[in-house]
Amino acid sequence: MTREDIPIVADEDVVRVRQVVRSYAQRAKLSLVDQTKLVTATSELARNTLTYGGGGSAVVELLGEGRRQGVRASFRDDGPGIPDITLALTDGWTSGQGMGLGLSGARRLVDEFDLDTAVGRGTTVTVTKWSR
Ligand SMILES: Nc1ncnc2c1ncn2[C@@H]1O[C@H](COP(=O)(O)OP(=O)(O)OP(=O)(O)O)[C@@H](O)[C@H]1O
Ligand SMILES: [Mg+2]
Repeated sequence: MTREDIPIVADEDVVRVRQVVRSYAQRAKLSLVDQTKLVTATSELARNTLTYGGGGSAVVELLGEGRRQGVRASFRDDGPGIPDITLALTDGWTSGQGMGLGLSGARRLVDEFDLDTAVGRGTTVTVTKWSR
């Protein structure tokens, strides 16, 4: 199996995302440090999907591109969307009770980061990490 679809509707689904991402990161032969970076990033994104998106789903994929392998994880919700992306990606900015470090931290921990959001429509965040 090279692709897994995980609903995110409750706390335990965040744990499930962590487990699946860890397993895929091992299969992609990411270093232990990079595995942990990706697990940390995806854990933050799954938490945001639950807290701000009102739930959604994750898709975790194993990628193969020539000699390198990677893992891509995408988090989608049909929640309120993010009105100001720059603000949301600013270290320390939160609209709630958080630390405001989830999105900005996640971006720093991965190789590719894509944020697609529309107010009233929802949010999709996609991150990728490659073996090197
Ligand atoms: N999926 C989402 N849907 C709507 N808004 C979001 C979503 N993800 C993030 N946001 C907005 O972006 C802000 C910044 O997110 P970020 O994860 O960086 O911080 P936080 O969740 O508030 O705190 P932390 O993750 O450090 O506990 C959030 O406070 C929220 O307003
Ligand atoms: Mg967060």
